[in-house]
Amino acid sequence: MRLDKYLSIAGMGSRKDVKKIIRQKRVKINGAVSVDDDVHIDPYTDEIRVDDQILEVVLDVYIMLNKPQGVVSATSDELHKTVLECIEYTLPPGCFPVGRLDIDTEGLLLITNDGELSHRLLSPKRKVDKVYYVECRDIIDEKTVDILQSGVDIDDETLTLPAQVELLSEISMNLTIREGRYHQVKRMLSACGNQVTYLKRIKMGPLSLDDDLALGSWRFLSETEVEQLKKG
Ligand code: URA
Repeated sequence: MRLDKYLSIAGMGSRKDVKKIIRQKRVKINGAVSVDDDVHIDPYTDEIRVDDQILEVVLDVYIMLNKPQGVVSATSDELHKTVLECIEYTLPPGCFPVGRLDIDTEGLLLITNDGELSHRLLSPKRKVDKVYYVECRDIIDEKTVDILQSGVDIDDETLTLPAQVELLSEISMNLTIREGRYHQVKRMLSACGNQVTYLKRIKMGPLSLDDDLALGSWRFLSETEVEQLKKG
């Protein structure tokens, strides 16, 4: 990793700020002063000091974002703002959103650079529960609840796995699904002759969306949350 990027991730300021710090000869790599901002360092093994203080940098990142509408679940996009651009903090390399929420879906999105954890959360074999708050155009009738709970034909090779429905009003519910098919919730409701008008993910495995997190805001996961995710 470039030295200036590492210093930014460590919270030493923007790229411009850290270049200045480097030019002022305040940075040492393994005991030797560096005046070179594009020198590459190994963030795991090199000792980096600023003003003789060793930098402690978090390299494994676990972030909960309350995704707003209008933002895409991608690492780069030519047209739209991405979920990574919602994080106004210099992320270490290799961060990505765990799974996709549609551009008009809100709510819980995990951003990490832990590929193993992401793989486990998304693996169809593990059947991790995802809970969505869903609002519909029409009344969610008994027949719809039955179909959702027994498996829906959404024109895939197989029916969807049985979902759980917790009705909240005539037109809203919490829906728990255990797969992550493309546009799954919207397609499930369409197949029942209804239409999703608002969709928000509120839970993924053991991780719940923090009620205190305003739309578009983010925070690092606590150690307990990370442990629970890794165990789950
Ligand atoms: N199901 C959908 O239809 N859209 C999402 O964004 C997530 C689940």
